[in-house]
Amino acid sequence: MHYSRKMGNVEFRYSIMETQPLRKMSIGKPGWAALCLLGVCLAAARPVMAGAPVRDEPIQPLPSRHEQDERKVALGRMLFHDKRLSKDDSLSCAGCHPLAKGGMDGKARSAGVGGAEGTINAPTVYNAGLLLAQFWDGRAQDLEEQINGPIKNPLEMATTWEAIIPKLELDPEYVRRFGELYASRVTAEAARDAIACFERSLITADSPFDRWLRGDETALGAAEKEGYALFKSYGCVACHQGANAGGNMFQRMGAMGDYFADRKTGLTPADQGRFNFTGREEDRYYFKVPSLRLAALTAPYFHDASVDNLPDAIRVMARYQLGREINDAHVEKIAAFLKALPGKHQELSQ
Ligand code: HEC
Ligand code: HEC
Repeated sequence: MHYSRKMGNVEFRYSIMETQPLRKMSIGKPGWAALCLLGVCLAAARPVMAGAPVRDEPIQPLPSRHEQDERKVALGRMLFHDKRLSKDDSLSCAGCHPLAKGGMDGKARSAGVGGAEGTINAPTVYNAGLLLAQFWDGRAQDLEEQINGPIKNPLEMATTWEAIIPKLELDPEYVRRFGELYASRVTAEAARDAIACFERSLITADSPFDRWLRGDETALGAAEKEGYALFKSYGCVACHQGANAGGNMFQRMGAMGDYFADRKTGLTPADQGRFNFTGREEDRYYFKVPSLRLAALTAPYFHDASVDNLPDAIRVMARYQLGREINDAHVEKIAAFLKALPGKHQELSQ
């Protein structure tokens, strides 16, 4: 469902999953008694019930576990780390999205095959399965479609599936696994499916913030709680919301000020944002609102990597997205909150 809301002179465009209104029903006195009893039991059992969100907040916990077939996840993991997916066997997906390091390379511009320099900052692959679309401009609808981007991009892996498949077919391990899992030879479609399954397994669950959302009052310190309150009261949460603390809408970079004029480095084609994909004037300078789940680990920031530290990223956001200057004490608390958002994954070191 899509709808928009005006706040001052900013128009927020949302894209949110539709929810059904609850039907009215009458359960009578015995029903209420049973419900109350159930409530008491559930309250008593809460500490051992991981999974049930208890706080009604605009940011929700990430799912505690993924729902993917572990054998496909393992095959996808192999492919994600396989340099044969690039033209000269020099670069894997993990080359630009190292999993131990937050799922991105920490560079302003990633290096593709032959050292080619990219045009936009690499986002993390963690939690990407929960985004409303892939890439900064949302040009790929889902993870499966996204994979063709880096494979074919001359500045990234610079190849084609026609060139990749024969290389993978020489590997008996791949032949065996594709045969078992897809009842087929190595195909581009099955390879994309496996890589996407693997990526959907990259959920950073059980962060301190999620534990707090699920009712553990001790999971956050005072600064982190105050930071979250400020994140809401300044209005950050109008754009960074949902389980991914972002990733569910497109917004203009510079909703309340001319970010690009003030940046002074000249416009690049990538700065046009979603306009590059839709060609619609109203999408110029619009970007997918990034997830803040791993923001504490994934400097530099923004599509143009214009900022290399979290406090300055928070200041830029306050100024250009909310039209506000923000004092250092508040910046520090919001940063403390953002540092409570990264959860765990066995591949991720923090
Ligand atoms: C040369 C570095 C490089 C390589 C290799 C690379 N990526 Fe990326 N990746 C990027 C950059 C840069 C972007 C952002 C591009 C854009 O938004 O236009 C990106 C975006 C993504 C996204 C979108 C995330 C989001 O928040 O929208 C996913 C998912 C992803 N890559 C997965 C992969 C997979 C899977 C592979 C291997 C098939 C791969 N990448 C190979 C650099 C790379
Ligand atoms: C009007 C919508 C909107 C509001 C309000 C907003 N943001 Fe953002 N945020 C965005 C968009 C869009 C981007 C990506 C901009 C770009 O890359 O050019 C972004 C990017 C970020 C990033 C960088 C993430 C990364 O991986 O590069 C951080 C950190 C961030 N926002 C924090 C905040 C904080 C803190 C606030 C409140 C002070 C806030 N945002 C308010 C829309 C918003």
